[in-house]
Amino acid sequence: MSDIKKIKKEYLEELNKELSLDKVNQIKTELFGKNGLISNEFKKLGALAPQERKQFASDLNFIKEELQENISKKFKELEIKEINEKLKNEKVDITLPERSFEQGKIHPVSQVIDEISSIFSEIGFSVEEGPDVENEYNNFTALNTPENHPARDMHDTFYLDDKKELLLRTHTSPVQVRTMLKGNPPFKIIAPGRTYRSDSDQTHAPMFHQVEGLHIDKDINMGNLKGCLNYFIKEFFEVDKIKMRFRPSHFPFTEPSAEVDIGYELRDGKIVIGEGDKWLEVLGCGMVHPNVLKNVNINPEKYQGYAFGIGIDRLGMLKYGINDLRAFFETDYRWLNHFGFDPLDVPSNYRGLSR
Ligand code: DAH
Repeated sequence: MSDIKKIKKEYLEELNKELSLDKVNQIKTELFGKNGLISNEFKKLGALAPQERKQFASDLNFIKEELQENISKKFKELEIKEINEKLKNEKVDITLPERSFEQGKIHPVSQVIDEISSIFSEIGFSVEEGPDVENEYNNFTALNTPENHPARDMHDTFYLDDKKELLLRTHTSPVQVRTMLKGNPPFKIIAPGRTYRSDSDQTHAPMFHQVEGLHIDKDINMGNLKGCLNYFIKEFFEVDKIKMRFRPSHFPFTEPSAEVDIGYELRDGKIVIGEGDKWLEVLGCGMVHPNVLKNVNINPEKYQGYAFGIGIDRLGMLKYGINDLRAFFETDYRWLNHFGFDPLDVPSNYRGLSR
């Protein structure tokens, strides 16, 4: 028997036995590796006479293919064997109890910000954002509140450096400045976000939330302001009629300025919005002061508009009957489970993404 037939016979017998994966790999190398038995036979081809070479090459190729087929078959067998063994050992135990999972809740503040944004976006406002760490210029000076202005003291500011150049923004009004500096009028934006003042009691927390509003165009007057806020409050509280009172006030960045109260009454100890003879302050507003417009390079002869700042937490407390503001920020899961919102629980006036 020729060499190659002997190799074939010997290895086919071997491949017929029960083999490990390592052993099959070893056989593969013994035959087809760099110095493998079959590889070496191919190297002999060059030295043969043409006639002989043809026959030998043909035989050798047949043997090579047969051996390779058998090796592949063996690999396949081993793979199937491994899968079967896994299936046998890793049976799914259907008697195990299911793993518990907890669904999170949406914090009332996030919910209220979503509701506010969707109401204002319906009447053409887009949403802007600004950083919590502000500079003194955007937070005060540009808003017509120069150094030594008494309004600065009223804000109980958290300063972040000795020179009092950086601070935690005391209101969302600096987003007005940022928005107007980076674009050209008209502007119609709201800016919800966190604000900070050194203050803490049942109705004040050192961190709280506001939403700023700004509408600047060529023909905006106080009637637009009243219409806009009236629409917002009615939509937010889901009432058809609302008693609103614009009380003259003072803010350095608006002239004239007003604070807005909404009417309510107490029924069985609960606040009912819209009727009654009691008043609750919910926001500050006014016509943007010409100095503010000048500070952001807008000609006050050509453009004017209104601005407002609403306390978000206060509105949420009123709408959802929450008494203590501080509970909002105590990360108490029991509280959050009670007052939080299910992600799928969409209030009737919500016009966000899920509709
Ligand atoms: N920034 C004011 C505050 O925190 C609220 C405010 C009042 C904002 C009048 C305004 C405004 O934009 O026009 O007390």
